[in-house]
Amino acid sequence: MALPHEDLHDKIAPSILSADFARLGDEVRAVEKAGADMIHFDVMDGHFVPNLSIGIPVMESVRKVTKLPLDAHLMISEPARYIEAFVKAGANSISVHCEVCPDIPAMAKRIHDLGARASIGINPETDADKVLPFAEHLDMILVMSVHPGFGGQEFIPAALDKLRYIRRELDRRGLSIDVEIDGGVKLDNIADVKAAGANVFVSGSGIFGKPDYGKIVGEMRDLIAQTHQP
Ligand code: DX5
Ligand code: ZN
Repeated sequence: MALPHEDLHDKIAPSILSADFARLGDEVRAVEKAGADMIHFDVMDGHFVPNLSIGIPVMESVRKVTKLPLDAHLMISEPARYIEAFVKAGANSISVHCEVCPDIPAMAKRIHDLGARASIGINPETDADKVLPFAEHLDMILVMSVHPGFGGQEFIPAALDKLRYIRRELDRRGLSIDVEIDGGVKLDNIADVKAAGANVFVSGSGIFGKPDYGKIVGEMRDLIAQTHQP
């Protein structure tokens, strides 16, 4: 019998945090041409994470240069204040961190009412059980495999167990939702994260650090396609 998640598509989501911001439009067009499925957009507030990145005006500009879905990852302490502005700026999905989201169903409803897909992020030290009870309200769960705040960090292997646990629980409950892995995903571990249950693969330095985006996205896609989830 087919598992509930087997109808989900695998998606590669380059994180523009590692792009050359001086040439951002060209970088986004280049990864679209390379075969990316969506653009991962990392928002940092210097409070939830110890770094600052990009925000609403940059999203408006990126929206104009690509038709790909924009996947807003809000690493910010007060997401409720900004989600409407991000959806208006062009975000197709919004990830809010569970560590700063006391009412996940209400947040998901608010995101849905604005017309976007709702996702909840889980930091490496946070238990998946903080989010799983509310999974039926969500379109996606984002599993952090680095401590959020910076691109180019090492993948934390414990994220694989978390992915396996989340996908097993979702399957057990008949829920077919996206599970996104974010942080340190590269050619050498992308098959492992697919096998563990992820179907949305964020990669920043693993793609933008390479000279040929088409080649690396193609190689990632081949590895994902060859790997089956148990
Ligand atoms: C980390 C961000 C990630 C990061 C991924 O705070 O949420 O999206 O940009 O970059 P790599 O793939 O380089 O770890
Ligand atoms: Zn991210």
